[in-house]
Amino acid sequence: MRRSDLSPERRVRLEPVPDKSGVFALHPPPVGPLDAFAGRLEASDSMSEAVRLLEHLSAESAKLPQPDLVTRTLIRREAVLSSHIEGTQSELSDLFEYECTLDDSRLPRDVRTTLAYVKALEAGLQTVRAGGPAAFTLSFIQTIHHHLMEDEPAYRDTPGQLRTVQNWIGGLRIEDARFVPPRPERLQAGLQDMIDNVLNYRPEGVMSMHVLRRTAIAHAQFESLHPFRDGNGRTGRVLIPLQLAAEGYPPLYVAGPLYRNRREYFDRLLDVQLRSDWQGWMRFFAQAVMLACEEALDTTRALLALREAWRQAVSDQRADSASRRLVEWLIGQPVVTVTQVSLQLGVSFPTANHALATLVQKGIVREPASRRNRIFVADAVIGILEGRTAGT
Ligand SMILES: Nc1ncnc2c1ncn2[C@@H]1O[C@H](COP(=O)(O)OP(=O)(O)O)[C@@H](O)[C@H]1O
Ligand SMILES: [Mg+2]
Repeated sequence: MRRSDLSPERRVRLEPVPDKSGVFALHPPPVGPLDAFAGRLEASDSMSEAVRLLEHLSAESAKLPQPDLVTRTLIRREAVLSSHIEGTQSELSDLFEYECTLDDSRLPRDVRTTLAYVKALEAGLQTVRAGGPAAFTLSFIQTIHHHLMEDEPAYRDTPGQLRTVQNWIGGLRIEDARFVPPRPERLQAGLQDMIDNVLNYRPEGVMSMHVLRRTAIAHAQFESLHPFRDGNGRTGRVLIPLQLAAEGYPPLYVAGPLYRNRREYFDRLLDVQLRSDWQGWMRFFAQAVMLACEEALDTTRALLALREAWRQAVSDQRADSASRRLVEWLIGQPVVTVTQVSLQLGVSFPTANHALATLVQKGIVREPASRRNRIFVADAVIGILEGRTAGT
């Protein structure tokens, strides 16, 4: 981060880092009241198009039957992809397997990190659905971070606690950093500005700023503050669907497009940090949102079509048979054990076993060999979620 790379507005916000001669931290300008902030944004930009797509997704989602099972799987895909941006190796099939066996002996270790993300997201969604935008407080953000990081043995701060040390982004030494976030003593006020003005914002009248624009602003500002020692990217990306859900929108999951375009994602954030280039960030974020909207609709439709195909495939079974009830449930939980099936359907172990055998025979699930725990996998669901067989 060189002084000469900064715009004048940002240059005046530099503060020396104690004990590091010649190194400066950047205390980002507060967002302030959004009515004033809106003046810095184009009235009609690609965000308007993204807003239209989000409204379309919202209307379509309301029409689709049983969205719960679908959203259950979308949350897990988000957890995997958002954690990939951080560098985890676990894939979706690992997460589903770990969730059903709690045995990570043959899975990537970071599958726990991915499951922690699921918990953070699910707990957060519950909180904002009950409390709306007012649910966003500093302690709520700290709780999200706590969920994400509590299982990380290598994490050096107490999960959920704001950092008390200087950190930096990119580069092995702070002297070579791409960006040096504010000094720790600035965090409290920086976050409170973002919470008061952006997260707790109450839309009033036609001139109010759409929540999608607010998710973009909050994300970039949060990443610029970088309030924790680690886990900032994930905490910030959890906030995006939560802001939407707090206002009754389907929680949109953007980690897929952000992951696929991560170079540009990081560059656009840097341009906000160094030069207040909000316009470039909004354009980029709008593109990611549009891709995410299309992905959400495609995935939902593909999962519902798969469920229909499975219903046909088991239509020769008794109407109340365990196998027919099982296909409904597999859409939301595509890796299962016999015990789980027996508990979930309220049937005996042998009946559950028999139902799974029927689905194996019909090619709906597969029993992978050489596992300590017997599991059954519906590959088609995972294929759709990973975009391998979308539309089938
Ligand atoms: N200039 C930047 N370059 C790269 N990433 C940035 C930049 N500014 C903020 N970030 C954010 O920092 C995150 C990485 O920070 P980190 O605390 O390690 O989070 P996590 O552990 O969740 O990945 C990235 O995912 C990105 O969201
Ligand atoms: Mg990290």
